[in-house]
Amino acid sequence: MSLRDKDKQYIWHPFDQMKGAEIIPIVKGDGVYVYDESGKRYIDAFSSWWVNLHGHAHPYIAQQVSKQLHELEHVAFGGFTHPQAVRLAERLVNLLPLGVTKVFFSDNGSTANEVALKMAIQYWFNRGEKRNTFIALENDYHGDTFGSMSLTARGGFNEPFERFMFQVEFIPAPTAANLNSVLERLESLLKTGDVAAFVFEPLVQGAAGMLMHESEALSQVLALCKKHEVLTIADEVFTGFGRTGRMFASDHLTESPDMMCLSKGLTGGFLPLGITAVSEKIYQAFYSDERKHSFLHGHSYTGNPVACAAANASLDLFEQEDVLARAAFISAAHQDFVQRIKDHDKVRSARSFGSIMAVELESDAVSGYFNDAGKSAYRWLLEKGIIMRPLGNVLVLVPPYCISAGELDYIYRSVEEYLNN
Ligand SMILES: Cc1ncc(COP(=O)(O)O)c(C=O)c1O
Repeated sequence: MSLRDKDKQYIWHPFDQMKGAEIIPIVKGDGVYVYDESGKRYIDAFSSWWVNLHGHAHPYIAQQVSKQLHELEHVAFGGFTHPQAVRLAERLVNLLPLGVTKVFFSDNGSTANEVALKMAIQYWFNRGEKRNTFIALENDYHGDTFGSMSLTARGGFNEPFERFMFQVEFIPAPTAANLNSVLERLESLLKTGDVAAFVFEPLVQGAAGMLMHESEALSQVLALCKKHEVLTIADEVFTGFGRTGRMFASDHLTESPDMMCLSKGLTGGFLPLGITAVSEKIYQAFYSDERKHSFLHGHSYTGNPVACAAANASLDLFEQEDVLARAAFISAAHQDFVQRIKDHDKVRSARSFGSIMAVELESDAVSGYFNDAGKSAYRWLLEKGIIMRPLGNVLVLVPPYCISAGELDYIYRSVEEYLNN
């Protein structure tokens, strides 16, 4: 039985309708490429769902992970610590926007958001207040656990669960054009005194199809939250680690958030790890003689040393090689390509920010996750040896930073060929 057939017999994959799903067995990764069982190679143009930064099976990260496995594979993090976690925490606190002083570990992007959400609720509880309202941006995606789903835009893939989700107030993503009305709506919510926190995907809303808003406008939204002493939570699970051209999307803002959620590229795409980084103000609200003020949350594999070793190795690469310069070269290439195709009659819209590019395909339906227009493009590009998993009718290009100019050009030319077909 082939790997494909055995997979079909035993495995239920995420995000796909299993009836008719085409699952591709991958047996090897090397740099920007992954290889299927027949030896065919594909450019991983979506960085395996936006996690991979430096290329697959990067020898340095692999070596550091392997070394760690022989030293300490895991130890409970409640009551214990280890060198990799301490090193990573210190480095992140120094890298993250000013004001972040502590990091809390979890396992993925959803749990990083879940932790932030619970911390925000308990922050107010520990101060003797019960705040019931969360604000998020329209079209935001924060994950698949119940809390992070609740913070996510309604009317998409969470429909079966909506009646169990808590209510969240959604405001439009701010731009120069809508800023006044957004600030007005925000202020009316903040004035109720019931808002626990404002949660947002900073500058790029990934899962919604790489929707982009503006840093100046977002800074003003944060400033207003600060004025009303409402907590702000930047979900940088996708935008972190150079994707927007700076190390974090928050680095484009003039206001820093009270909490930041990190995952995906945190380990260079090697292992699952989540971080909720917080300011001293948050930490101090839990630092108390009262046991019930503790943050009683954790997971069996919280702070896993091997995952931390991968994250430290990825940060080493940022220090040793000018990774952000490579991201800048991708950014410039994306901008040229967007100019080239944005007026194509099969393109509804094309946009880029940093190393993130999106091509929204024209179709009869509205843009969104359930628009099938991206499917034929996906298959066509696969034939060409390119994995560009679409979000509905939006083709997304988020390559590993090690991609070469020639490989990028091959992707652009292939997309153009598809459009002209
Ligand atoms: C902004 C954002 N937050 C949270 C998540 C959830 O992360 P995970 O899939 O690791 O749970 C994602 C995943 O795409 C994301 O893009």
